[in-house]
Amino acid sequence: MKTEVFRACGDERDSELMERAGRIIREGGLVAFPTETVYGLGGDALNPMSARKIYAAKGRPSDNPLIVHIADTADIEYIAESDERVPLLARHFWPGPLTVVVRKKDIVPFETTGGLKSVAVRFPSHPVSRSFISRSGGFIAAPSANLSGRPSCTRAEHVLRDLDGKIPLIIDGGKVGIGLESTIVDLTGEEAVLLRPGFYSVEELREVLGDIRIDPAVDGTEHLKGRPRAPGMKYRHYAPGGELTVFSGEERVVRERILAECRKALENRSRSGILCRSSHKAFYEETGAFVIPLGEDGEEIAKNLFGALRTMDERNIESIYSEAFEEGPLGMAIMNRLKRAAGGRIIICNETLKDTENT
Ligand code: TXA
Ligand code: MG
Repeated sequence: MKTEVFRACGDERDSELMERAGRIIREGGLVAFPTETVYGLGGDALNPMSARKIYAAKGRPSDNPLIVHIADTADIEYIAESDERVPLLARHFWPGPLTVVVRKKDIVPFETTGGLKSVAVRFPSHPVSRSFISRSGGFIAAPSANLSGRPSCTRAEHVLRDLDGKIPLIIDGGKVGIGLESTIVDLTGEEAVLLRPGFYSVEELREVLGDIRIDPAVDGTEHLKGRPRAPGMKYRHYAPGGELTVFSGEERVVRERILAECRKALENRSRSGILCRSSHKAFYEETGAFVIPLGEDGEEIAKNLFGALRTMDERNIESIYSEAFEEGPLGMAIMNRLKRAAGGRIIICNETLKDTENT
């Protein structure tokens, strides 16, 4: 299959493109499209065949449910049982990077929900996603548009690299604005539970919901130990080809530790790379490692993280060392992705005590 890529502007100039995308979806095909978080791989959420195609194209296990994207808050009523917390959350966070898990109605096939009686629903804010969803019947099942296990796609080029020849159309909306997937909140029980941290922080959610419990899988390593509530959290994710290790602790100690690791890697002739705050780039240049500065604040770091992991692969980097980025409202979401990309390899550096390996 030939994969075509078309640039979208987010206004009426896209009319022909949206018509074409809508036709593909209605006929049971797949289209990759931009959202404000990451690129999604969309299919008709109400067509079981489309869900099967999504799993096949991504190489994704079919027990890992898909998020249904809508283009109007009211449309959730068509696919899910009502819950009084939904309008509350919608008023504050929709359209935007929040996904709610609620009880599904029969119209949603089990293929879309990975066999679950609940459905994850999100109303994205990106103008291109909104017009694509409305022109395609209003209910688009879409996981992130990467091959299963790979870092999510923040540019159309990443989608093409992963899915070329597997889908007919990629809508190119340029680089995404946020760079990490949506915050997921499970509302199927009495108590709201955070399943995946994202752009909206726990504090913002608490302001609206009152309380919210944090699922143990959110710390980015628990998935290795048990059965998380978001089925997707049990799989290795976001993983670059090289071995990634994250170093957390006091800034100066982390830096020295990364420098020492790079020297060791150099002696072993292993190609090493470093992910760091932009202001720290100069410290690492003497090592000869391939350094990618991710930015200074959480928003920049979030936006650049997945692209940087992909660049490490393009450069065939075998050992990647990353600073930890725990501070600020996006710290939890960034660390969740980073720890999972590292398969849980996080080293807590300590000046006096021996390092602790938290795996
Ligand atoms: O920002 C996003 O959410 C992006 C864009 C494309 O919208 N989508 C995305 O989808 O990240 P995906 O499939 O990569 O991640 C969805 C996560 C998975 O961990 C999945 O297990 C969980 O949501 N999920 C979906 N439906 C669920 C359900 N009914 N109950 C619990 N977890 C669910
Ligand atoms: Mg994903």
